[in-house]
Amino acid sequence: MKKQENNYFVVTVPGFEDICAGELVALGIQPTGTVHGGVMFAGGLKELYLANLWLRSATRILVRLGTVTARDFPTLFQRLSKLPWGRFIKTGTSCDIRVTSRASRLIHTGRIAEVCQAAIAKTLGEREGDNGKVQKIFLRMDDNCCQVSIDSSGENLHRRGYRQASVAAPLRETLAAGCLLACGYDGSVPLLDMMCGSGTFAIEAALIALHRPPGLERMFAFMDWPKYRPGLWQQLLIEAQRGEKSTLPASIIAVDNNPKAIAAAQKNLEMVGLADLIQLSCENMQQLQPQFPHGLMICNPPYGERLGKDASLKALYHDLGRVYGDTFAGWQGAIICPESELIKSTALSLSPLLRFTNGGIKVALLEKS
Ligand SMILES: C[S@@+](CC[C@H](N)C(=O)[O-])C[C@H]1O[C@@H](n2cnc3c(N)ncnc32)[C@H](O)[C@@H]1O
Repeated sequence: MKKQENNYFVVTVPGFEDICAGELVALGIQPTGTVHGGVMFAGGLKELYLANLWLRSATRILVRLGTVTARDFPTLFQRLSKLPWGRFIKTGTSCDIRVTSRASRLIHTGRIAEVCQAAIAKTLGEREGDNGKVQKIFLRMDDNCCQVSIDSSGENLHRRGYRQASVAAPLRETLAAGCLLACGYDGSVPLLDMMCGSGTFAIEAALIALHRPPGLERMFAFMDWPKYRPGLWQQLLIEAQRGEKSTLPASIIAVDNNPKAIAAAQKNLEMVGLADLIQLSCENMQQLQPQFPHGLMICNPPYGERLGKDASLKALYHDLGRVYGDTFAGWQGAIICPESELIKSTALSLSPLLRFTNGGIKVALLEKS
């Protein structure tokens, strides 16, 4: 029997498309294209499960169910009714339908969602009571073409399940992992985050270094589909566990001068079972001395915008520049922050590796030369 192939779309934070495409290639999956905010690939359930389990920089993964053209609601209903909804929606699962419409005759997104609900109900027939499950469905109407996608991930993939505690302005796990990958981090060199906050870089670095999949501990929307294959999923988990390292090839050091941040990071490290592997300490970054001649330093300093304007921020960036440029001169160094006046206070020569938005603020991953 021929394996059923689907077209998939990996949603990424804009700026991370190439990083995510590289991750797919490393999984043995060839991307079929890249657009602003996403990467396409084709494959069966194995490829879909692998991508959800392993992609560190992805936000979610959609299955392209089909595209229908419609300029009126009866046509939309009739054409949506022909899509194979039963492959993805069990009896009793409710549908959360998200609609966008642009340059189309049908612009009332609420009405489009209602028509889609009715089409699903018609296709699936008599439905039993609520089973408590919710399937997200995305409809994108553009130039009278309605592209229908089914979410396979459930909660956004940055929700790995380990973050129990955080302090102000934590970085999303997917962004932290994507930045590490953009710096070429593979776990083979020491890593230092001297402003670790809730420990996101240290934890994501450890997951990369140990070769542990970020999706190991969580549930996915595809687990509620009628054709879910638990045996295949278990096999992928077993293979992942077989390939996992028990010790870090090189040290991971996380430092912050705020005891509350260290307490939050400690809680998260315990949650993910990494407390014994990562060196965590409450220190001022100005006091740090390198334990190794080479390594990667990465940090996400306060920007001012989110954490409150602070006159001493300029001094902090100046000190950061001294630590990066002088004390750790032999280390590769990367900083995530806006490309504003503030960064000039570091007096470092920096070049952008990535540009993206973090919590609504335009930032860059800047690497020291
Ligand atoms: C934007 S937060 C980092 C968030 C972190 N990336 C996360 O995901 O949770 C900046 C951190 O820098 C720390 N910090 C500020 N000045 C510092 C200094 N001089 N030495 C060490 N840490 C400092 C703050 O306590 C704060 O936790």
